Amino acid sequence: MMTALPSQRQLVLPILDAVRRCGGAATTAEIQRQVADELGLDAAARAQRGKIGGQDHNLLGHRVRWGQQHSRLAGLMERDGNAWRLTDAGSAHLTRAFPGRPVTVFLTPNGCALWGLAEEAASVIDHGSVRLLLTSPPYALTTKKRYGNEVGQDYVDWLCSIIERLMPVMESNGSLVINLGDAFIRKSPTVSLYQERAIIALQDRLGLHLCQKLHWHNTSALPVPSRWVGVERVRLKSAVETLWWLSPEDRPYADNRNILQPYSDRMLELIAKGGAARSKRPSGHACREGSFSVDNGGSIAPNLFTIANSGDQSYTRSCRAAGLPPHPARMPIELASRLIKFLSRPEEVVFDPFGGSGSTARAAESLGRKWITTEALREYVEGAKLRFADELLPAAA
Ligand SMILES: C[S@@+](CC[C@H](N)C(=O)[O-])C[C@H]1O[C@@H](n2cnc3c(N)ncnc32)[C@H](O)[C@@H]1O
Repeated sequence: MMTALPSQRQLVLPILDAVRRCGGAATTAEIQRQVADELGLDAAARAQRGKIGGQDHNLLGHRVRWGQQHSRLAGLMERDGNAWRLTDAGSAHLTRAFPGRPVTVFLTPNGCALWGLAEEAASVIDHGSVRLLLTSPPYALTTKKRYGNEVGQDYVDWLCSIIERLMPVMESNGSLVINLGDAFIRKSPTVSLYQERAIIALQDRLGLHLCQKLHWHNTSALPVPSRWVGVERVRLKSAVETLWWLSPEDRPYADNRNILQPYSDRMLELIAKGGAARSKRPSGHACREGSFSVDNGGSIAPNLFTIANSGDQSYTRSCRAAGLPPHPARMPIELASRLIKFLSRPEEVVFDPFGGSGSTARAAESLGRKWITTEALREYVEGAKLRFADELLPAAA
């Protein structure tokens, strides 16, 4: 059987790697040989010919030449006589995606990880196909992180414009869950209202419904902001983040039976003895005789997820071993898993436009959902790939 050739877009990264291995500059023939070696293409795949525009071409050579042109247009490589040379952007350590179409970095049977900008994802995702958009965009922090984040009112406009561009990919009864963390105002022990402003703007400008505010208690949160919490001792540590659950409709698909929690001992006792006696709660709520007698398989989860953000050491170890920077702001896979189980069914599509270290993708893959991620920084997508050692597909056209 003939090996499938990668597409032009899938060749952009192998081409950049090939030029890097050649010391930053290489001829087309060298690039083609290196790329074929790296992708493990057999002799038949290297020699494969086909008609393009009525002319007979070596297909690999043709795709490599197109890949070079993509890289040139993106400002990652330039012509230098007979050679192709990496530009500063092409050889930078944290490599920001270039505007244009996102590039596939890896594929699994269920998913596709793209190096590209969230705002451009709608050009490569089927419209109306996404059941759950689950994401943690850069927060509106008051100091800039390495991966870049907007501040102030610009943040609200930036987030709204990206979500607006992504709305066409959503199923009409799908959900968007946007995780945002608190941001303290610079040099002040007071909190920015950027989250509330962003959610009001998403409702006012895009007509999104707020289905519920979900919260994540990170039990391993550090005592931050350190000045107010650890030094002056005038604030509590920020250990709860909000997950804003929005939808184009007021009744998106959701089923809380998919994330039932184990019953407490007291509830198990109640069920065993046939339920509660008739009573009136202090709130005035009347309990019928025999209430809580049915075993429904577990108790209904509250809108607070209590999960430590730890236990991802195999990811950080693999990144370090591969010479890649581990992502500094990861969501626990357990948190992503619970939201995916609650708000989507197997085989449905989960999309994370700010994919980071691939936590959403990893959870979706394990739960039998289809998934797509975009991430602007190439090294983070390469790090995410390390979470999928057992599922990677060879890059196929
Ligand atoms: C808070 S992190 C997401 C972390 C992720 N949830 C995880 O668990 O690893 C936000 C990510 O968005 C990426 N990013 C920022 N602007 C972007 C854009 N315009 N398009 C795609 N990704 C972007 C950043 O590089 C960063 O990795």
